[in-house]
Amino acid sequence: MRFLLTFALALPMAAQLPSRAAISASNQDDEAVERGSALFAARCAGCHGGAGRGTNPATDLIRSAMVRRDQVAGKLTVHPDASLAKSQIGDLGVWLRVLLVSVAGKGNQDFLEILTGDRIKGQQYFGAHCAKCHSPEGDLAGIGEKYDPSVLQSLWLSPRRSKTPRTVSVTPPGVSGTLERIDEFRLTLKEQSGTRREIALDDDTKVEIHDPLQAHYDLYPVLTDADMHNVTAFLSTLTKERSK
Ligand code: HEC
Ligand code: HEC
Repeated sequence: MRFLLTFALALPMAAQLPSRAAISASNQDDEAVERGSALFAARCAGCHGGAGRGTNPATDLIRSAMVRRDQVAGKLTVHPDASLAKSQIGDLGVWLRVLLVSVAGKGNQDFLEILTGDRIKGQQYFGAHCAKCHSPEGDLAGIGEKYDPSVLQSLWLSPRRSKTPRTVSVTPPGVSGTLERIDEFRLTLKEQSGTRREIALDDDTKVEIHDPLQAHYDLYPVLTDADMHNVTAFLSTLTKERSK
């Protein structure tokens, strides 16, 4: 491992450094930018690349959820070698923001989405449309830490099948239970008593399925791009730390 790291350090880094325009677009303090960029070049670029893109997913800081959420301070008190002063950590944070903005400025949709989302508006949207089923301190606590923002977005846009099963009622014969399978011709359900029933379906059978994910399916047609990015931005702030 040692050997590999030394080898990686010796590789030339073809870095796409942020342009002057990107730096000024990032709205950061000029002097902090200068200090942060020099420090990054000297102490981090060997492993993370001049522009922070690294050479593998672990060293690509621009893909890092921690970097995008602007929460690197904790990590940098121990990494790479626990020798950084508080002010240096601050300067590095500034430079990482510049690197992020410069990537977003290249029109990279994946990054733009999360960067342009307004987390406060996302929180409001969440309160109005999601809070009756979810809680930032409960089932979704720490979710922003578990996933990269783009994964997080697809997770809430199309959640995995719920742990809570779909239920169904069928008339006639007037039975209901947990839906196990359904096709054009028949369905199988399990009644509360545990009895499994297979029911043939025809044109007169009335089938009512209750899917716990229905609220999610109903969102697609009405969700605007802005709402989508705002909600993802809000969800990405849900760290364990925050919910304490
Ligand atoms: C010797 C190589 C090396 C050096 C030097 C180095 N890093 Fe890292 N860094 C890594 C590796 C490998 C990882 C992934 C494993 C880990 O988290 O420790 C990492 C992880 C990180 C992470 C966490 C990313 C995430 O989402 O988990 C941050 C932030 C980071 N480095 C910032 C920096 C900064 C800023 C510097 C310079 C002060 C720096 N690193 C110097 C190799 C290095
Ligand atoms: C009527 C209830 C309901 C509403 C409203 C609702 N959800 Fe869900 N959501 C669910 C269910 C059920 C699941 C499946 C996970 C489970 O069974 O715990 C789920 C899954 C998720 C997941 C994946 C969780 C994981 O750990 O895999 C996220 C994220 C999520 N919802 C976010 C949202 C957001 C954001 C909104 C509002 C825009 C929303 N949900 C609205 C019921 C709801």
